[in-house]
Amino acid sequence: TLIPVILSGGAGTRLWPLSRELRPKQLLKLNSNLSLLQETAGRLGGRPMVVCNQEHRFIVAEQLRELEMEPRAIVIEPVGRNTAPAVAVTALLATPESLLLVMPSDHQVRDVDAFRQAVSQAVPLAQAGQLVTFGIQPTEANTGYGYIKRGDGFAVEKFVEKPDRETAEAYLALGQYLWNAGIFLFQAKTYLDELVAHHPAMVEQCRAALDQGSSDLFFFRLAEEPFAAISGESIDYAVMENTSRAAVIPVDMGWSDIGSWSALWQESHRDDKGNVLLGDVIAEGVDNCYVRADDRLVAVIGVRDLIVVATDDAVLVADKTCDQDVKKVVERLKIAG
Ligand code: GDD
Ligand code: MG
Repeated sequence: TLIPVILSGGAGTRLWPLSRELRPKQLLKLNSNLSLLQETAGRLGGRPMVVCNQEHRFIVAEQLRELEMEPRAIVIEPVGRNTAPAVAVTALLATPESLLLVMPSDHQVRDVDAFRQAVSQAVPLAQAGQLVTFGIQPTEANTGYGYIKRGDGFAVEKFVEKPDRETAEAYLALGQYLWNAGIFLFQAKTYLDELVAHHPAMVEQCRAALDQGSSDLFFFRLAEEPFAAISGESIDYAVMENTSRAAVIPVDMGWSDIGSWSALWQESHRDDKGNVLLGDVIAEGVDNCYVRADDRLVAVIGVRDLIVVATDDAVLVADKTCDQDVKKVVERLKIAG
């Protein structure tokens, strides 16, 4: 059996003020009547396991219900410990031979057929004990991604998570590297074996969090004490950089990580002036802007390359090239309490 595993623990701080602690970006209906989580769940179908923070368990359950999808499990984390343990608990819940298709909940995939084809291509590799990644042709020296150096066939020669700018530029120039899409296919036992090899304590702590946790319907609540004690790490650093069993399927599927407002602008339908205007917006002499007004009138005049997002209690105005810094605002808000 192939089990879709959806990771829904991120905060999406760069999409503030729309994305908030109680409503992270994957649960927002940004461009359509479906949230990114719902789009992810629908991409392959089947009964997914979703791993999310306890604050989001009911929104996640409700959004799956809207799709008439009964989850195999909604695993509830008392605190986030990054993706390596999140995936480990799903691997422990599944039978050892099950294939887990691990997917981030906050990506866009425009060519769903290409995605499905790539997954079918990956199945025999995963059944043979490989950890299969999906490689995207890079277009810029983005330092927020993992880079995969291809070897012969589907082999991975090297996996480098979030290299610095200089290294990323060198990789791009060499041309032999792909971006890691953040989607993985492997057998539950393959992942656990590799995690035991590199982080034995983490597997034991995850097992304890499940054993001492509780379950009700499809909800599995992890016990706080053992889970919070885990030293958090992403699957990329914990496993993919260390394993010798990685494979990569290159895929061209219109993939993008909706990480920031400018990425969202890029991915949205733009009018003939290059604007994305959503909600109650009046624009005069405006070019290449993303303006979003959720519950009030917003007028913009004579500006270009701006992000303007107004919600009921906050307004963001940012130059499009600075939109990565939105997370600094969120950090300052956190400090201010
Ligand atoms: N359940 C759970 N718990 N989910 C989590 C947690 C957690 O503690 N932390 C992150 N996630 C979810 C996020 O919501 C997202 O859907 C996914 O896991 C990936 O986490 P990110 O934090 O967005 O990772 P990243 O973007 O920095 O890097 C990963 O994705 C890139 C592609 O977008 C890596 O896999 C990179 O190698 C890859 O290039
Ligand atoms: Mg991400």
